[in-house]
Amino acid sequence: MTEKSSTAADDLLAVAVRIAREAAETARRMRDEAITDVQTKSTDTDVVTAADRAVERQVVEALRAERPGDGVLGEEYGDSAQPTGGAVRWIVDPIDGTVNYLYGLPQYAVSLAAEVNGVVVAGVVRNAATGDEWTATRGGGAWRGPRRLSGSARTTLDQSLVATGFGYDPARRAHQGRVLAGLITRIRDIRRFGAAAIDLCMAAEGMVDAYFEKGLNPWDHAAGGLIAAEAGLRVSGLDGDAAGKQMLVAAPPALFGPLHDVLVELDAAGGA
Ligand code: IPD
Ligand code: CA
Repeated sequence: MTEKSSTAADDLLAVAVRIAREAAETARRMRDEAITDVQTKSTDTDVVTAADRAVERQVVEALRAERPGDGVLGEEYGDSAQPTGGAVRWIVDPIDGTVNYLYGLPQYAVSLAAEVNGVVVAGVVRNAATGDEWTATRGGGAWRGPRRLSGSARTTLDQSLVATGFGYDPARRAHQGRVLAGLITRIRDIRRFGAAAIDLCMAAEGMVDAYFEKGLNPWDHAAGGLIAAEAGLRVSGLDGDAAGKQMLVAAPPALFGPLHDVLVELDAAGGA
C-alpha cells in the first residue's frame, strides 16, 4: 500500500468514526426515550423503527456536509448519489440489530464503511448500547481501541463456536434451519446474536471462532467484513465466490476450509 492511499483510508476512517459515534448516540438516546414508531419492512418480522430512519438521515446529512461529492448507500433510503469514477461511496447500516433494538437487547450497532472504486478501505462498527467499537483500514489491521485483533487460533471445526443469522423471509429461514440442523452436530455450538456487523467483529476478536450467513446486504457486512479480514480471517462466499448475498463465511484460515466444505455439502448458499 502506498503512503498516499494509506493516508486516505485513515482520513476516511476518522470521518467514519466521528459520524458513527454521533449516530450511535442518537440511536441510544432514542431508545432511552422509548420507541414509538415501529413499522414492518420486507416481512412482518423485519422491523424498522423511526430511529433507523432518523439515524440514517443524520449520517447522510453529516456526510453531505463534510464530503459533498461522495455517494452514500444506506439500508433505509438506498443509493442517494452514485459517485463518479474514483470517488468515495459510503455504506451505512444505521441500526444493525433492529430487533435487538426493539427489545432493548444490548446488541445493536451503527455500521459505516467507505468504499473507493468499489473496494471497502475503511470501516467502523459501534455497538450503540455498550460503546464497544471496532475499526479497520485496508492494510492497516483491525482494532478494538488500542488492541489489534487477530481472530481465533482454533484449528478444528468440531471444537468451534460458530455464529450465524437468519433472514426475514420464511422460505429462506426454512432452508437456513435445515442447514443449521446439519451443522450443529459437527461444531461446538451455535450463537445467534442478531446483528451481522457485530457478529463479524466478534469473529475478528475471536469471541466466536467463525461466522457465516446467507442473504446479507452490503450494509450488513461492508464494515464488519473488512474488520474480520484485517484481523486475518478469510472472508468469502462459497466455491471461490466473493462474499455477498448468496453467502458470507468469515473464518480463520485453518477453519475456513472445513467450514466451507460442510456448508457446501449442506447447500447453505441454496434455497430461497
Ligand atoms: C439483520 C441482522 C441479523 C441478520 C439479518 C440482518 P437488521 O439486520 O444483522 O443479525 O441475521 O440477516 O438483516 O435488519 O437488524 O439491520
Ligand atoms: Ca443490518
